[in-house]
Amino acid sequence: MSETIRNYINGEWIDSISGSTFESNNPADHRDIVGIIPDSNSGDVDKAVASARSAFRSWSLTPAPKRGELLYRVAEILSKRKQDLAELCCREMGKVMAESLGDVQEAIDMSYFMAGEGRRLQGETVPSELPGKDAKSVRVPVGVFAQITPWNFPTAIPIWKLAPAIVCGNTVVFKPAEQTPVCATRLVEIFEEAGLPAGVLNLIHGMGKTAGEPLVRHPEVDGVSFTGSNAVGEHLAVICAGQHKEFVMETGGKNPIIVMNDANLDLAVEGALWGAFGTTGQRCTAASRVIVHDDIYDAFLESFTKKAKQLTIGNGLNLANQVGPIISKEQYDKVLDYIEIGKNEGATLHLEGGAYTEADCRHGTFIAPTIFTDVNPKMRIAQEEIFGPVVSIIRCSDLEMAIEIANGIEFGLSSAIYSQDVNTTAIAERELDAGLVYINASTIGAEIQLPFGGTKHTGAGPREAGARGGALDFYTKWKIIYRDFSGKLQKAQIDD
Ligand code: UN1
Repeated sequence: MSETIRNYINGEWIDSISGSTFESNNPADHRDIVGIIPDSNSGDVDKAVASARSAFRSWSLTPAPKRGELLYRVAEILSKRKQDLAELCCREMGKVMAESLGDVQEAIDMSYFMAGEGRRLQGETVPSELPGKDAKSVRVPVGVFAQITPWNFPTAIPIWKLAPAIVCGNTVVFKPAEQTPVCATRLVEIFEEAGLPAGVLNLIHGMGKTAGEPLVRHPEVDGVSFTGSNAVGEHLAVICAGQHKEFVMETGGKNPIIVMNDANLDLAVEGALWGAFGTTGQRCTAASRVIVHDDIYDAFLESFTKKAKQLTIGNGLNLANQVGPIISKEQYDKVLDYIEIGKNEGATLHLEGGAYTEADCRHGTFIAPTIFTDVNPKMRIAQEEIFGPVVSIIRCSDLEMAIEIANGIEFGLSSAIYSQDVNTTAIAERELDAGLVYINASTIGAEIQLPFGGTKHTGAGPREAGARGGALDFYTKWKIIYRDFSGKLQKAQIDD
C-alpha cells in the first residue's frame, strides 16, 4: 500500500506547484511502493523559505525553555511510536529491524538531549577591565536554515539537525533524501502534533538539483546543514561560502580498524564485522579497511571470513536477517562496479559476495559481504568511499605502519584500534587523524551527546551533534554585550 505524500509549508500539507511526483520504493522489494512524493522545484522552495522567514521573529523570541519543552514532547511521541517508525524505516530504507530501532532511538536521544539544552544555552559573563561595566556573551539564533539529510539514517540524522536548530530559535526548511521521504514526513507530523507553530519547520520533497540546490542558493536562507556525498558537499560549500552563509557539510569516510598482534582477536573480529557489514556498509562511519598485524593476520582472516559468510541476508523486517539491501539500483551498480575495480587493480577477491539474488532477494538490491585481500593501500578500493558491504584487509608489520596506512587517505571521519596495550592505544589515540577514535570498539555507533564530524575531506564547517563545541555553536551566533553603568565615558585599553 502506498501513501500520497505532501509538502508541509506554513503549517499546511500541500502538493508541489508542478503537481509532478516520484515514487519511493522499498529497496528489499522494489515492487513495493512506499509513497508517491511531490517533486518540488524552486517555486516550492520560495514558498517554504518565505514561510520560515515570517515565522522566525516570533520563534526566536519564544523563551528557549519553552522551545525545549516542545522537543520534549517530540521525544515522548517518538518513544511511543518507536516500533512503527522503525518498521517504516526498515521498509523505506532497508536497514534491518534492530538497526531501524536504533535509528529511531538515536532520534529520541537527541530530542531529549536538546530539550534539556533549552534550559542551558549558556554564554559567558566575565569581569570588565573597567569599573561600572558588565561584559557578557549571549547565544542568538542565526535565522532560516536549509537542512538536507541523507537516506542512510532517515530518522536520526534529520533529528540531529532539526532539534538543535529549533531549540536555538531558528526556523527550518527541511529537504530530506528523495529515497526516504515518507520517514521524513512522519517526523514532521510529530513536530506538528507536539504543537510547533506554523512556519517554524517546513518540509519540501524533491531532488537535489531541482529542490536542494535552489534551497541552498536562496538569498533568504542564512545557514545550510548537509549530510551526503563528498561531491555534493563540496559543491554546496562553495555556494555557501560565496553567499556568506553558515554551513556544515558532513560527507565521506574511509574508516580504518587497526588490529594489533596483542588484540583480543574475537572482539576485533566482531568489531570488524559490525563496522564493515552493519547497515550493509552504508554508514559514513562504516569500517571499509581493516589493517591487520602480520603476526595474527591468518587467524584474523580465517575467523572474519567464516563469520562474514554466516551473516544472514534479506529483508530486514524478518528479524532473522542481519544484512539488508542496498538503497537503490544506482548505489547497487556503484558498489558492484567497485568490486570490478578492485579485481582489475589486482586485489584478491577473498570472499566473493557480490550480487545476492537468493529467493525473495531477487526483487530487491542485495549485495553479500565481500572481502578483498592483497590490497595495496593506494588502490582505489582502499582510498574511495564505496558505501556498501565491501571491505579491504590490509597487512601491517607494526603500529607506525598501521597508522600511516590509516591516515593515508583523503578522509578522516572515524577510526578504531584493537590492542590490549595501554601505550599502543594511547599512541593511536594521539596519531589517528580522524574526528572519532574508538579503542577496542568498532568505527560505528557515535553517541549524540558529543560532537560528530571529521578531518580533511570528510566535511567542512563546524561539528554536528553534541552541544558546546558541536551543534549549539553552529545553530547560534555569539553576540557580545558591554553595558556601562558608570555614567561617564570610559575608554577600554586607555583609561588607567
Ligand atoms: C552516518 O552514517 O552518516 O556513528 C552517521 C554512527 C551513527 C551515525 C552515522 N551514530 O555510526
